[in-house]
Amino acid sequence: MGLLLKILLPLVGLFLAVYFYSKEDFKPEMLRGKRVIITGASSGIGEQMAYHLAQMGAHVLVTARTEAKLQKVVAQCLELGAASAHYVNGSMEDMRLAEAVVKEAKQLWGGLDMLILNHIGYTYFNYFNGDVEHIRKLLETNFLSYVAMTVSALPMLKESTGSIVVVSSKAGKIGIPFAASYSATKFALDGFFSSLRQELIIENINVSITLCILGHIATETSQKMASHVLRSPAALKEECALEIIKSGALRKRELHYPYSSVKIPLLIRDWAPEFLDSLTRNNLNVENVKRS
Ligand SMILES: NC(=O)c1ccc[n+]([C@@H]2O[C@H](COP(=O)([O-])OP(=O)(O)OC[C@H]3O[C@@H](n4cnc5c(N)ncnc54)[C@H](OP(=O)(O)O)[C@@H]3O)[C@@H](O)[C@H]2O)c1
Ligand SMILES: *[C@@H]1O[C@H](CO)[C@@H](O)[C@H](O)[C@H]1NC(C)=O
Ligand SMILES: *[C@@H]1O[C@H](CO)[C@@H](O)[C@H](O)[C@H]1NC(C)=O
Repeated sequence: MGLLLKILLPLVGLFLAVYFYSKEDFKPEMLRGKRVIITGASSGIGEQMAYHLAQMGAHVLVTARTEAKLQKVVAQCLELGAASAHYVNGSMEDMRLAEAVVKEAKQLWGGLDMLILNHIGYTYFNYFNGDVEHIRKLLETNFLSYVAMTVSALPMLKESTGSIVVVSSKAGKIGIPFAASYSATKFALDGFFSSLRQELIIENINVSITLCILGHIATETSQKMASHVLRSPAALKEECALEIIKSGALRKRELHYPYSSVKIPLLIRDWAPEFLDSLTRNNLNVENVKRS
């Protein structure tokens, strides 16, 4: 025990020292003049990311289905100081939109520095109802369109040594009940983008991939869908949006936000999975879910 401590403690100390010393600080200027696509930016976390980027002086291109909302977001971005602000409206169920958005960036700016993939299609928060077609559609919107946008954007991102930021969820790392379809699409993102990151490193291609694992965030959608079931308090969407941008700019591998409510379950996951499962169930007001 004594020997272990003698070896282990200095090692841990050294590790922490190196870790904190080597950590680069975020500066808002990092985003000034950068060309950024943000998907699902007509509401929620995506909308807040657009506003933060505008304040930092970035060029923003926002996309979602609802044109009227996007027009308001663009106007607000220009007011906040965006270098430029544009939108493309349409549904990500259609892969042609994914390509059209990237093409628009090329036409507007001739290049791209950051691709923030954040949109999700509608799903239900309830017991899995056996609807296979729903999962197929959700995979198109939440997963395949992310892949399609990445394929279209990679040539520009290689040229700018840019970044891809993928917004995922705790439900993309651990099994959370009442979210089977959604969870499947988020796990798919982890598999695809973690594998692609490895290939980029092997090929010496300097494009970073940041996977954002989010806990409960107070957006209109999440409040409406799940707040009667989730017991954990919801974090602020404005702060969450800023943390996503920071981790993308710093080219981090993953973001865990809010830190402890995501990190602790992930640490337990591989060592005591049954314990984590029961913790997860106990953290929900299961009685509020009525089979529909
Ligand atoms: N809020 C949370 O607690 C939480 C937790 C973990 C992870 N996340 C992740 O954070 C991200 C943002 O979530 P949020 O809570 O901010 O959601 P949100 O407010 O519902 O925003 C979703 C965005 O996607 C757009 N969208 C919906 N269907 C679309 C479609 N078919 N094609 C293109 N765009 C579509 C919506 O705009 P239109 O309706 O105008 O198309 C909206 O702009 C998601 O990836 C989500 O999984 C959120
Ligand atoms: C964009 O929105 C307008 C107005 O709602 C609509 O007419 C048009 O079809 C939309 N474009 C796409 C590609 O969905
Ligand atoms: C990768 O690109 C970033 C941003 O352009 C740069 O800061 C970093 O030094 C590059 N890394 C390598 C290994 O070239």
